[in-house]
Amino acid sequence: MNAPSLELIGFSKRFGGLAALDEVSVKIVPGAFHALLGENGAGKSTLVKCAMGYYAADAGEILLNGRQVVINHPKQAHELGLGMVYQHFTLVPNMTVLENFVLSRKHLPSVIDWTVERQRLKDFFDTTPFTVPLDLPVADLAAGQKQKAEILRQLYLKRTLLILDEPTSVLTPDEADEVLSTLKQMTRELVLTIVTITHKFREVNAFCDTVTVLRRGKLVGTRPVSELDNDTMAEMMVGRRETRATVEREQRAAGKTVLQIEGLSVANTVGQLAVDVLSLDIHAGEIVGVAGVSGNGQRELVETLAGQRHAEAGVMKVHGERYTATRPEMIRHRIACLPEEPLRNACVAEMSVAENMALRSFDQAPASPDGVRLRRAPMRDVARRLIEAYRVKTPGPDAPIKALSGGNVQRAVLARELSSEGDLLIVANPCFGLDFAAVAEIRARIVQARNRGAAVLLVSEDLDEILQLSDRIVVMFDGKLALQTQAAQADVGAIGRAMAGH
Ligand SMILES: Nc1ncnc2c1ncn2[C@@H]1O[C@H](COP(=O)(O)OP(=O)(O)OP(=O)(O)O)[C@@H](O)[C@H]1O
Ligand SMILES: [Mg+2]
Repeated sequence: MNAPSLELIGFSKRFGGLAALDEVSVKIVPGAFHALLGENGAGKSTLVKCAMGYYAADAGEILLNGRQVVINHPKQAHELGLGMVYQHFTLVPNMTVLENFVLSRKHLPSVIDWTVERQRLKDFFDTTPFTVPLDLPVADLAAGQKQKAEILRQLYLKRTLLILDEPTSVLTPDEADEVLSTLKQMTRELVLTIVTITHKFREVNAFCDTVTVLRRGKLVGTRPVSELDNDTMAEMMVGRRETRATVEREQRAAGKTVLQIEGLSVANTVGQLAVDVLSLDIHAGEIVGVAGVSGNGQRELVETLAGQRHAEAGVMKVHGERYTATRPEMIRHRIACLPEEPLRNACVAEMSVAENMALRSFDQAPASPDGVRLRRAPMRDVARRLIEAYRVKTPGPDAPIKALSGGNVQRAVLARELSSEGDLLIVANPCFGLDFAAVAEIRARIVQARNRGAAVLLVSEDLDEILQLSDRIVVMFDGKLALQTQAAQADVGAIGRAMAGH
C-alpha cells in the first residue's frame, strides 16, 4: 500500500504576458483516480509539468504524504516515486522495448546482464494484463502499443504516483478500457495514485472518482464524479451552457469522382507493404470514412496523398488527372490535408502561428502578390481572422506555434486547411486532443465542406466519429479494404469484426 497523497498549493506560471496558471491548488488523496479537465489551453499540461519539475513554476508548494518536498527537475520527481506519461511519446525509437525499460532505471549496474534483465522483464509482463513485444524497436510499434509501453515502463519503474496526459488518445476504445481498468484496479489496491488529463467524459464517468476543472489558468473546482453529470462538467469547463455546433447533413447525391486511387501500394519506413494494392474512389459532396485500428496502413495512405511518402505501385488521380502530390498540384486541385501529429507533420515548430497558417499560400496573394516578396502585414491579418474564427488560443499571430497547447496546434492547422474551400479534403483523426466544444465545431465544419461539394477522406480511429460523419464507410485492415458499406446501411458489428481482421 504505497499510493501517496499529493497536494499542489498555489501554483502560478506565466509565459511572457500570459498567466498559464494562476494560484491553482489541488489535493489528491491516496489511491485516487483523479481527472483533470479543461478546455484546450486551460493549463492542464502546464500544471502537471510544474509538479514534475519539468517547468519551473513561478510560485507553488508541493506536499507529498503531507510533507513538503522540493521538485526542481523530473529526476527529483522520479526519486520521490512520481512518474508521468506525456502527451507526446518519450521512448527512444531505435532501441527495443527491453533496452528502453532497463536503461531508464535509476540505478544501473556497470555491466548489464541482458539475459537476466530480459527474463526479469518477461516475469514482470507475466503480472501485467497487457504487454508489448520485448525485442522490437519502439519505432516498429503501432501508436497504441507505444502508449501501452510508456505506461508499462512507469509501472516497471515502480512509480507510485502516475500522471497521465491524455493517455488514451491513440488507443482504441477497447484498448483504453483494458489499460484504464488495470490502472483502476491498482488504485483500488492502493498501489497507485493517478492523475489523468482527458477530454473524454465517458472515461471520467467509467474510471475516475474525482474531477478538478481548470479554466483559463484558474481553478474552477474539485468535485466527486458521483455528484457530476456531463452537462455540469461541460459547464464548469467553458463557464456557460454552450450550444454545441450541430452537424446538419444536406441530402445530396454524390457528384463526380474527385479522387481515384487505383491499385496503390506503399511501403512503411522499414520497407514492409503498409498499403497493399488499394483502390478507392471519392466523389464530390461525399465523406468517405476510413475506419481501422491504428497501424493498418492509414498513416502511410494519408502520407502518400499528402506528398510525404512515395508509392511503390498504383495510380492516384484527381479530377481525372494523374496526381503525384506535389505542392503545385495540391494548389491547382485545391486539396487540403490534415495529417496525424500536426505539430510534427504539418507545421514548422519554430515558426510563428501566422507563418504556419500561411504555409499553403505564402507565395500567393495577399501574402505575396508577385510570388517573390513576402508581405508580413496581410499575412498577419489573415492569421488574425483565422485565430478568431477557429478560436485558437495564442498570445498573437507572431507567437511560435510550438508554444501553443496540444489542442490549439490542432486548431491552427485545421483553420489553415479547412478555410481554403478546397475540392478535396484529407483529414486524419481531426479531433484528437480537442475539447468537447471544439470537437463539435470541427465536425460541423467538415460536414459544411461536404455540403458545399468537397470530397472528404476522413481517416479516424474513432468509430463514433466515422459513423456520425460519413456517407460511405470502408474498413482498413492490414493495408487492404476489408469492408465497404454505405453509412446508412452500416452494421456496427460487422465493422468491428472487419477492424479486428475477422
Ligand atoms: N512553453 C510554452 N511557452 C509559451 N506558452 C506556453 C508554453 N506552454 C504552454 N503555454 C501556454 O500556456 C497555456 C496553457 O497551455 P497547456 O499546454 O497547459 O494547456 P492544456 O490545458 O494542456 O491544453 P490542451 O488540452 O490543448 O493540451 C496555453 O495558452 C499555451 O499556449
Ligand atoms: Mg495539454
